[in-house]
Amino acid sequence: MNVLRFDSESAWVQGVSTFWRDRLRTNPHLTICLPTGLTPTPIYADMVRSVRAGQASFAQASIYALDEYGDLAPDDPGRTRNMLLEHLIGHVDLPTDAFRFLDPGIPDIEQQCERYDAAIGHSFDLVLLGIGRNGHLGMNEPGSSADSPTRRVELHDTTIASSARYLKHGNLPRWGITVGLKPILASKEIWLLASGPAKADVIQRTIAGEISEDVPASLLRRHSNCSVFVDAEAGRLL
Ligand code: PGA
Repeated sequence: MNVLRFDSESAWVQGVSTFWRDRLRTNPHLTICLPTGLTPTPIYADMVRSVRAGQASFAQASIYALDEYGDLAPDDPGRTRNMLLEHLIGHVDLPTDAFRFLDPGIPDIEQQCERYDAAIGHSFDLVLLGIGRNGHLGMNEPGSSADSPTRRVELHDTTIASSARYLKHGNLPRWGITVGLKPILASKEIWLLASGPAKADVIQRTIAGEISEDVPASLLRRHSNCSVFVDAEAGRLL
């Protein structure tokens, strides 16, 4: 696991987006899995700027949403699909049919998840991940196994509480659908992103604690091409 530490949040944003522009230049057909949350938002803004400036293009890329909340109104801005559209996809040159997302409104969720994993195919080229304060990745909560597929999951109380930061309608989701740890760990490259003081403790446990399903992010240490991008605050305990 490579750890890349940056002195400030803006240097951290620049660091991630510089690598991302490079990956898109090297492989314009990049297949990318993207998270929602507050962490990647400034990075998405910089990628929008990069596309507008002609420094990057998603014209031949594909994007898969990492997860989705259940039981939210389709227009809730906290839904992963809506956040990705608002902060990145609605402003870049990605073709409409190159954005895939999970839909909790479809009755047969199991079949939908199987189709999602089949569409992912052998592997993503790149997965970007935020990290929950309990070490979750996407909605793979502590206890998720390393070979878990894309599936419906029940959310932990801390995840439910922190989802309130994104949601409009006040009815907090208790479940969601997430890309599983198996397809995440099969990705050719993984970037774990963390910024701010609230993530310092879990980043320390991820990098220096035991490798365990109790901290799903620690399983990334078994991946041969995983980088952790932290700003000074998130990397404070390293
Ligand atoms: P955040 O969420 O980026 O909003 O902190 C990350 C997560 O819970 O996975």
